[in-house]
Amino acid sequence: MRTQVAIIGAGPSGLLLGQLLHKAGIANIIIERQSADYVLGRIRAGILEQITVDLLKEAGVGARVAAEGTVHHSIELVYRNTRHPIDVTGLTGGKVVTAYGQTEVTKDLMDARAAAGLTTLYSAADVSIHDFDGSSPVVRFRQDGELKELACDFIAGCDGFHGVCRASVPEGAITEYEKVYPFGWLGVLADVPPVSTHAIVYANSERGFGLCSMRSLTRSRYYVQCPIEDKVEQWSDDRFWDELRRRLDPEMAERMVTGPSIEKSIAPLRSFVAEPMRFGRLFLAGDAAHIVPPTGAKGLNLAASDVKYLSNALVEYYHERTSAGIDDYSRKALARVWRAERFSWWLTSLMHRFPDTQGFGQKVQEAELEYLVNSEAASRSLAENYVGLPLDFAQIR
Ligand code: APR
Ligand code: PHB
Repeated sequence: MRTQVAIIGAGPSGLLLGQLLHKAGIANIIIERQSADYVLGRIRAGILEQITVDLLKEAGVGARVAAEGTVHHSIELVYRNTRHPIDVTGLTGGKVVTAYGQTEVTKDLMDARAAAGLTTLYSAADVSIHDFDGSSPVVRFRQDGELKELACDFIAGCDGFHGVCRASVPEGAITEYEKVYPFGWLGVLADVPPVSTHAIVYANSERGFGLCSMRSLTRSRYYVQCPIEDKVEQWSDDRFWDELRRRLDPEMAERMVTGPSIEKSIAPLRSFVAEPMRFGRLFLAGDAAHIVPPTGAKGLNLAASDVKYLSNALVEYYHERTSAGIDDYSRKALARVWRAERFSWWLTSLMHRFPDTQGFGQKVQEAELEYLVNSEAASRSLAENYVGLPLDFAQIR
């Protein structure tokens, strides 16, 4: 087998890259470890920056997000059980975000890929990548017990945090930066109408962080901060609803509709960046290169901007015969990555209870929240980052 770009991983990064390359006439094959159903079963965040919505449109999958996504003009901060709306659209000269689940994005991209007749090899075992430091990289894997080989011009490592691509880079060639947070998020998905359909609710309470999000007008996604060592079995639905209510303001707590969970899981929170994002003919994109804690929902949006930079660079390479774009990919992507890392870390630090900072850290957090909700400049800084910084590095320098 041979293709121009071998893409490892069929998450949002790999699927979006495949679609953008296909639109530009560049051949690609995706190799995915799991089955398509497994990939679609993962529940992840669901807030899209306008840049991401625009990219989905460019990739030919903009219709459903436009029809079914819910446009948000504000966010609600809850602090000391009191609600403080932040007028995101007013503070950013008209920008919005769209609530639309990552699962739906993935499904739309998978459907478009199938409709275009493009190859995705699912359930590929023992994937390994070779010779990306030379001019003829190769991907090897096992499917149905048979050993297979895919030759290509470039490898796109879109295989997430636990993937094989970053792990295949020689140790001395890569620098990793990491921060692990001392708590987790317990998430619940339920078919109940969201308590807030016009804005995501971020609650800082003395009991810990709480978040109210949505997947549609009939499906809610809610979270509470919990000890990282907690097990899902310790959290009955009743305990979860009770805890979430206690972290909100009284009116919202009263209004919240509860019901049986259809998914419940505990996720760790991590900030992580690997530098650089290119090694010869291997590029990393999305979670393979960086992780943000979910506060602010930047993960999918960063994956989308990486993929935009990478597809532009590859299109330049194939159509204009210049490697300037691929040479600049890592610098360009990392500039935006670090800004989103900063924002996600900041919002996480602002909204959670930290077990070890009951003294000074706690007081500073309170002062920062007071400043944020009372200062237009501080609110605007939050709003500007929430809607997403521009793609053009020159504009965000
Ligand atoms: N070989 C092939 N595929 C692999 C391998 C491997 N060795 N290891 C992992 N994969 C696949 C995973 O099964 C997964 O489907 O790579 C895919 C990576 O997808 P994601 O983890 O969703 O990462 P990405 O596409 O970069 O999407 C980023 O996902 O985690 C969220 O917050 C994050 O929203 C962001 C988005
Ligand atoms: C979600 O919908 O899962 C979500 C929304 C906003 C966040 C994090 C997660 O900041």
